[in-house]
Amino acid sequence: MTQAKLILGIGELLWDVLPEGMLLGGAPANFAVMAARLGNHAAILSRIGRDELGKKAVELLEPLPADARFMQVDPAQETGRVTVKFESGQPAYTIHHPAAWDFMELTDEWVQLAVRADAICFGSLAQRSRESRQTIQTLVARTPASCARVFDVNLRAPFFCGEVIRESLELATVLKMNDAEAPRVLELLGLPIPTSGWLRVAAKQLLKEFTSLRMVAVTRGAQGSLLLTREEEHEHPGIPVEVADTIGAGDAFTAAMIHYLLRGADLATLNEAGNRWGAWMASRSGAMPALPQAVLAEIAAGLEG
Ligand SMILES: Nc1ncnc2c1ncn2[C@@H]1O[C@H](COP(=O)(O)OP(=O)(O)O)[C@@H](O)[C@H]1O
Ligand SMILES: [Mg+2]
Repeated sequence: MTQAKLILGIGELLWDVLPEGMLLGGAPANFAVMAARLGNHAAILSRIGRDELGKKAVELLEPLPADARFMQVDPAQETGRVTVKFESGQPAYTIHHPAAWDFMELTDEWVQLAVRADAICFGSLAQRSRESRQTIQTLVARTPASCARVFDVNLRAPFFCGEVIRESLELATVLKMNDAEAPRVLELLGLPIPTSGWLRVAAKQLLKEFTSLRMVAVTRGAQGSLLLTREEEHEHPGIPVEVADTIGAGDAFTAAMIHYLLRGADLATLNEAGNRWGAWMASRSGAMPALPQAVLAEIAAGLEG
């Protein structure tokens, strides 16, 4: 048994409202649940409404290992919702706003967690409002120097801009993006988009531009991922699985990568762990599937930490 680390996922908590039912999600919550399943003390820092959907979210999270006790409750705003409609087979997402998670407050309770955190993960969506952006950035800045500050961009149109990306990268020590997000990130920052070997070059450019960054992870869906630090790089071809749905695959990748990063593993191990758990998540429905102990042991076998 490895020692539990304190890991925070801060940002949107929302319900995906699909034709066939509702799914609780939001990258920070998905990330925190996975980090907790791997044996860490992982807390979800978000804000819900005093409404039926908020109550349902708490009920759903209750039996899961992530710590939802620090969630804030907004007296006036509604719990977050995303409506997913299918138009000629293509999903169209409406991320409702404002939502309770647009009003996250910097409380003493949250600061007390931040100053002890081993890792904190944040994205761009929850920074769409001035209040939550301020809270997220202040909280990340309050974490100790040893904390892994993970910016998982998760671009969700139309809720991102160059300013938020730049401010977040100035705070981050680890960046995670997928291969579709990489050129958008460069474009939003006004950096040149390389023509060949572009994912590597893009990652190198970002390491050069942002001095606090120590590692860039670019994921490529079924094609695996690329990890780069200032000294080394490692490429993983991905692990074939029968896909149920890919919701939460990136969040599982990030959670596993950070779990092993906090235990001092090398790049090859981080990449292997990220892909094993990303692939496992893609093979399951939803982003918070159950994880039997035997499956955990099987997937984690041979990884250090
Ligand atoms: N179809 C798939 N088959 C196997 N693994 C997958 C698949 N989709 C995603 N993954 C795993 O999840 C990781 C993250 O997925 P990706 O789609 O790149 O990120 P995001 O979910 O952030 O868009 C990949 O690097 C891979 O390990
Ligand atoms: Mg993602």
